[in-house]
Amino acid sequence: MSGDGSDRPRRQVGRRPDEAPDVPQAGLPASHSEGVVEDHADDPREVQFSEIQVAALFGVGIVAIIFFLYAYFGISIHDNLGQYSNYALGGSLAIALCAIGAGFIVWAKKLLPHEKTVQDRHDFHSPPEEEKLAEDTFLQGVEDMGLARFKILRRTLLGALALFPLPIVVLLRDLGPLPGRSLEGDGEITGWKAGSRLVDLDTKLPVKLGDLSIGGVQTVMPEGFGSAEELSLAPTMLIRFAPGEIKSDKERNWGINGHVAYSKICTHAGCPISLYEQQTHNLLCPCHQSTFDMANDAKVIFGPAARPLPQLQISADRDGYLYAVKPYSQPVGPSFWERR
Ligand code: FES
Repeated sequence: MSGDGSDRPRRQVGRRPDEAPDVPQAGLPASHSEGVVEDHADDPREVQFSEIQVAALFGVGIVAIIFFLYAYFGISIHDNLGQYSNYALGGSLAIALCAIGAGFIVWAKKLLPHEKTVQDRHDFHSPPEEEKLAEDTFLQGVEDMGLARFKILRRTLLGALALFPLPIVVLLRDLGPLPGRSLEGDGEITGWKAGSRLVDLDTKLPVKLGDLSIGGVQTVMPEGFGSAEELSLAPTMLIRFAPGEIKSDKERNWGINGHVAYSKICTHAGCPISLYEQQTHNLLCPCHQSTFDMANDAKVIFGPAARPLPQLQISADRDGYLYAVKPYSQPVGPSFWERR
């Protein structure tokens, strides 16, 4: 009978109780190990149940791999921009790996013999005479350097060590100028200011409520735009949704009568975006296929972009002309911040 009450056979490994303990060889620490091996192969029913568990997990792995192959060859990568294919491939591969890994774990825990090992460790302290020798050697080195005798040498050495970090601090200047307000993505950077009217990119005429038909998109700029920097950061996409199509309260409140405005500069690498699908409200970047849900805060639903497109809060004046309530409240463009 074993210590835990089971009748499992056990195999003693290492030193037998009647054996003398290991004698340390010269220069080696005194240590020994001994162990007990427990075999699980004594209860046929338990073994059979464990075998079925492992086989079931491997079976799940097989099914998942077969489904992976089906998904690879059978599901079009063009359906819903490849989402179905991606989910099926990723999901089936994850299930296959988890099931096979879990099978190995159950196999190791329930079917393989377990060995319990105890190993003594020697004391890690050096002998007192060695510690004394090291201390004496260090003190002798300090004495030989003559720091106590040579006062000028000692003071100049301390001065040199105190000044040594300064070149490193000075070199930090080469990391570039401080970003200042450029991290805020404000109107000075993009060209959009509070009250800027939205004008058509080509005609430069102000845009009015209702100019755009439902489902339509239009590229707009701040009235009076001109500099190259404004041209590169200011392009904004005006979209008009049908009533009830906008899912996000924030997006609806930042727009007016179904009109909303978003930056056209992709947050991945800065390409101008213009491929808008009216039915799905998806906006696709042609460069690396980042896709944004324009009815839901322009959230990223596919691709490498790391954050949504920034929204420009707009309203309309008494005559119905659209204007920016305030500049963009976050940087436009790639996920790294724009700098002057
Ligand atoms: S620049 Fe748009 S996805 Fe890369």
